[in-house]
Formats: sequence, structure tokens, C-alpha cells
Amino acid sequence: MSALDYVRADLRGYDGYLSARKQNSGGQVLLNANESPVAQAFDTLALNRYPEPQPQRLREAMAAYYGTAAEQLLVTRGSDEAIDLLIRAACVPGQGRVAIQSPTFGMYAVCARLHAAEVIDIPLLSDGKQFSWNVQGMIEQTLANGATVLFLCSPANPTGQSLPLAQMQGLLQALKGRCLVVIDEAYGEYSTQPSALSLLAQYENLAVLKTLSKAHALAGARVGGVIADPALIAVLKACQAPYPIAKPSAETALQALSPQALAATRSAVDLCLEQRQRLHNALLALQDVLHVYPSDANFLLVRFRNPEQQHAHLLKNGIVVRAMAQYPALHDCLRITVGSAEENNALLTHLAEQA
Ligand SMILES: Cc1ncc(COP(=O)(O)O)c(C=O)c1O
Repeated sequence: MSALDYVRADLRGYDGYLSARKQNSGGQVLLNANESPVAQAFDTLALNRYPEPQPQRLREAMAAYYGTAAEQLLVTRGSDEAIDLLIRAACVPGQGRVAIQSPTFGMYAVCARLHAAEVIDIPLLSDGKQFSWNVQGMIEQTLANGATVLFLCSPANPTGQSLPLAQMQGLLQALKGRCLVVIDEAYGEYSTQPSALSLLAQYENLAVLKTLSKAHALAGARVGGVIADPALIAVLKACQAPYPIAKPSAETALQALSPQALAATRSAVDLCLEQRQRLHNALLALQDVLHVYPSDANFLLVRFRNPEQQHAHLLKNGIVVRAMAQYPALHDCLRITVGSAEENNALLTHLAEQA
């Protein structure tokens, strides 16, 4: 099998838009892209020029950080863009099927809908104390429904658990030749589970999503990436907008990958894990809290006796958490991002007022 077997037949070998920068790179007198010859007086990044379609230095730095080759990685506008590109590449418009496991990150279903693809939901299992994947059910239903792409979020948003590597491998093996498996590791840095990246060499049906928005503290820069077989990456690149990564974002992302910034990121993650444990314990001690789900990410999913009152009371006090009422399985839950120690103190104080 080749990675191209997971791609729509009409996109195999498709080159996408031939931008000015793609057609000819280099040169000193640039009269090929209808840009302004003069930059703004305040501009230090030559923003009068279009950026590289894939900023090469950033692509190489991200690939080095994730331990892959540059041609296995596509830099995207957050992992949100990668989700959209993967659905476009794997699903024939109006016919494709996308497998998800609810409750899960909403963008898989949103992008599927925008592409007129049907969502095949294989819900997570719950024993009331934690969520887990129905791996056998996922295999059977993906195959029975002919889904061509499956999204699995690990660590899972909003439920917090991770899928052990051995089970991931079982899923990839069973769907080899039939379905592209996308493992979304947006919260991977907060987890002790190994990354799915170690399985890339064995499974051409695997794509891994990464982002600089969470642990790397660059949500505002909109930089993420998808890592997969180079043939699949080439197709995704052809589906991308001509100049997706703005120069200021590329420059900022490069700084976040410097050794110094990476050391600071590791410290920030350690601090977050300490706060996560402290918040978990403190929430459990509150009268109104029924359950705190175990979490491998930078948030806690919490069941309350009175979730709506708590949500409203927090809002009144300027504290914004995420209501989960749109997911029937989480109707009494709030998802709470682990903040700074001060932010967590404020949260706990106001939650206690309502108990
Ligand atoms: C699981 C998951 N995947 C992807 C994203 C998108 O992140 P971004 O587009 O900022 O990389 C999010 C954002 O919250 C997320 O929770």
C-alpha cells in the first residue's frame, strides 16, 4: 500500500495553485507577484513580499523538534487547518465518511459537514469514572461504513484520557489499506503516554497532528503541523492556500523552538501538571463537585450537581470556563483549563461560594 491510496483519486498527482513564489523562487528584482516594491516604514520583516508557501526554516525546525524528516511535515495554520485539509484529501465531496468518537473535539464534525461528508460516530465508553475507546467497535464500524478517515484525539478533548500505544497500533493495523487514521496530539506535551509518531515508519495510514497553540503558548500565532508519509504531505500541500503561514507567525514560531524557549516550555508544562493535581484535589473537596475525570491534558472535566448555576456564577465574576451541555454524555460537566496558581485560586473561591 502507498499513502496515496488513502487520498481521493482525483487529487493524486494534483499540484494545486501555481503561485508566483512556487513558479520561480530567488531573484533580486521581483516583478512577478504584483507586490508593492516598498515596505511600510515600520516593517522589519519585508511584509511587502508574500511569504514562502512553506517557511523552510520553520518546517525544518518543527521536523527536528518532532524527530521527523522535513518532507514528512506540513506547517499549517493551527491544527484546525490540518483537520480540514485531511478531510478534503481523504473524502470525495458529498460522499466521504469521517469516523469520530463522541464526545470529542468539535472541528472534526464541523470540517466533515463543510465538505458534505457523513460523520460516523463510535461513542466513547464510560464507566461513570472515566472514558475509554471502544477500539473493536471503532474497527468494525469504520470498516462497515466505509469511512476513509478516522480522527482520534489523544489526549482526548474534552474527556482527558490517552490511548495506549499498543491499542493505537491495533487500530492502525486493522485499518491498514482501508482508512487513514489521524491521531490528534494537541495536548501531547501534558501526557506521559508516548507519541504516535513512533508508529509512522510502520503505518502509511497514520497522520499525526501537532500544534504550537497549547504547551508552546502560541495560540495567537496559529501554527501547527501534520506529520505523515511524504506522499500524503505533498497532496495536503497542494490543497493548502497559496501562502498560508504569515511571516510574523513563522518568525514567532521559530523563536518558540529555540533551546531556551523549549526549556521554558518544559518548565511551564511542569508547573501546569502541578497545578492540575492541586486543582483536581481541591475540586474534589467541594460540595457541589460530583466527579473530576482523570486528565492527561491541561484541563479538567468536572461533573457538578449544579453546573448551570456554577457556570453563571463564575461568569458573573469574570471567570470563563467551558460549558459542556451540548454533549449529552457531559450534560452536567464543565471543562476547566488549568490556569496560573492565582487564576485557579480565584476559580476555587467562586466555586466554593455556590456550594
Ligand atoms: C484536540 C484539539 N485539536 C486541535 C485543536 C486546534 O488547535 P489549533 O488550531 O490552535 O492548533 C484544538 C483546539 O482547542 C484541540 O483541542
